[in-house]
Amino acid sequence: MSVKSTNITHVEHRVSQEARWAKNGHTSGVVWFTGLSGAGKTTLAFGLEQRLFKKGYQVYVLDGDNARHGINSDLGFSPEDRTENIRRVGEVAALFARAGYIAISAFISPYRKDRRHARKAAGAGFHEVFIDADLDVCEQRDPKGLYKKARAGKIMEFTGISAPYETPENPELVIKTGETTVDQCLGRLIDYVDRTFSPSGAPSEERRKERYAKSNARL
Ligand code: ADX
Repeated sequence: MSVKSTNITHVEHRVSQEARWAKNGHTSGVVWFTGLSGAGKTTLAFGLEQRLFKKGYQVYVLDGDNARHGINSDLGFSPEDRTENIRRVGEVAALFARAGYIAISAFISPYRKDRRHARKAAGAGFHEVFIDADLDVCEQRDPKGLYKKARAGKIMEFTGISAPYETPENPELVIKTGETTVDQCLGRLIDYVDRTFSPSGAPSEERRKERYAKSNARL
């Protein structure tokens, strides 16, 4: 993303990332859910938030439907608007991570290039989680009745029907929701978070740079 403003500088915080992690008892980052509408992103994101909060984590969900009522209320579902949607929430998620939180984001985020930008905004602590369910499973669930409307031509540019979804090529985690219960999915996600953000696993400066380079190599 090019920067439009001129005469701006970067100002350093006086509270380090390490100090925030030490206070919270865990490291921070972005757990980025991507998948079709109806795949289970929202259910799993809020379930995960609740379980992690009970365990003492600083955690917050950014959800597509909610964000589109607020920060992204000026955006629709054209490819350009979706890109801007993901650009903004990618930056917001990165801010949460820098503030010491685990940000769980639940957006369809159908385009690989947009997810790459979100990864870049967050740096080393970005974890792409593919919430994977086949289109026919999502369409059968149809929790909001949107697939039915899309098939009837009442919603244009609907992901999976009349707009594309680009499957992740190299996600950190895949959760198949068509074949496993919500509880089993949450169990796997909690294990992943416990392992990934544990204080003992808090990476050294050097290790962080290494991870950052590795993360960038995915770009
Ligand atoms: S994204 O593609 O830009 O990442 P986002 O996750 O914010 O989408 O919003 C998706 C939600 O908006 C869906 O869960 C659904 O409830 C609703 N929605 C309304 N219209 C559409 C559409 N054309 N395509 C996909 N989702 C839609």
